Amino acid sequence: MKLAVLKERHEGETRVAATPDTVKKLTALGFDVVIESGAGLGSSFMDGAYEEVGATIVANADDALDNADVIFKIRRPTDDELGKIKKGAKVIASLNPYQDAEGLKAYAAAGIEAYAMELMPRITRAQSMDILSSQSNLSGYKSVLVAANEYGRGFPMMMTAAGTVAPARVMVFGAGVAGLQAIATAKRLGAIVSATDVRAAAAEQVESLGGEFVMVESEETEDAETAGGYAKEMSDEYKAKQAELIAKTLTKQDIAITTALIPGRAAPTLITKEHIASMKPGSVIVDLAVEQGGNVEGSVAGENVVTENGVTIVGPINMPGQLAADASSLFAKNLLNFLSAFMDEENGGLAIDYEDEVITGILLTRDGAIVHPNFAGGSE
Ligand code: NAI
Repeated sequence: MKLAVLKERHEGETRVAATPDTVKKLTALGFDVVIESGAGLGSSFMDGAYEEVGATIVANADDALDNADVIFKIRRPTDDELGKIKKGAKVIASLNPYQDAEGLKAYAAAGIEAYAMELMPRITRAQSMDILSSQSNLSGYKSVLVAANEYGRGFPMMMTAAGTVAPARVMVFGAGVAGLQAIATAKRLGAIVSATDVRAAAAEQVESLGGEFVMVESEETEDAETAGGYAKEMSDEYKAKQAELIAKTLTKQDIAITTALIPGRAAPTLITKEHIASMKPGSVIVDLAVEQGGNVEGSVAGENVVTENGVTIVGPINMPGQLAADASSLFAKNLLNFLSAFMDEENGGLAIDYEDEVITGILLTRDGAIVHPNFAGGSE
């Protein structure tokens, strides 16, 4: 079976969907791995390193895609690439189906099996295949470094002969995978850290990392978590109470890191213009949710906005891509783990069980139709 790995063409995408380490394992599983030349450059993986572990390097995407059975990508294939993929081939990538209805139709029209890895069910068996977790963890770490870099003061308390430097106060909004890593990183840098979430279960995790947990107590929070561990959209009444709590706590902070997401919906607005106006000059906000609509009023994807009162709002695009080598290694491992779970151990090759909840959870299109339950009614 031919497995193709393409160079990413999305602007600013530095990651690659296979590493020499995973290619070695894919080859051992029986795949003929073909890599488009230069695919790993942005993540510091050279063509030669892939060749050494058994991959074939080809000059362009056309040659890589020619008769490929499986295609590994970070982002969705371009329309041009889609036209070169044979019917029935499996494209495994981060496909962003909630924000890309056109893509969904195009995969069906192309007759491919499109697997959206970010929809992976949160079950124990699939933990090692979860690209959201592997990438969010790195984003959370990097968001703190970005904040520290923008902040005109230090993070740790420093007692020097010339005087004492006060520790930075960091508040993290959304204590999921990214938020918890941000808390841990800010603590390691010596900051005083607090965090908030709508899921009461997050309290213990925040506290175990040495952070203070603040949240709006209400009956609603008992039911704020879905079976998959994700947050639900909260009522207007809850949102108003949360805004009050944020108004009270944010004025005392130097740094805010926002990570709050609701799957399939725009990110909730948590920090408003009024909140920002009450912050101290020199404060820094990093809005990790900016690409999903943002948690912060006035944040702009790909830009640093400085407000009239001297608050810098950072809107990072593709944060995991700033740690490309690690992000690629983990993403590639997620794809490898996924594929390894569906091998035919007796006869070799793939044996996809289309009834398996991992497959029904992520398979968007098959045999020319949109098959995912969340996008029902979209059959071509
Ligand atoms: P996420 O990226 O969808 O959201 C980030 C955080 O924002 C979440 O903690 C969410 O509760 C919070 N949030 C949403 N709306 C908010 C609001 N209005 N105000 C404040 N906070 C808000 O979630 P993530 O980080 O992907 O994971 C969420 C949960 O899933 C965590 O408990 C995590 O431990 C769990 N998880 C389970 C896995 C498994 O069982 N295989 C794998 C990964 C995570």
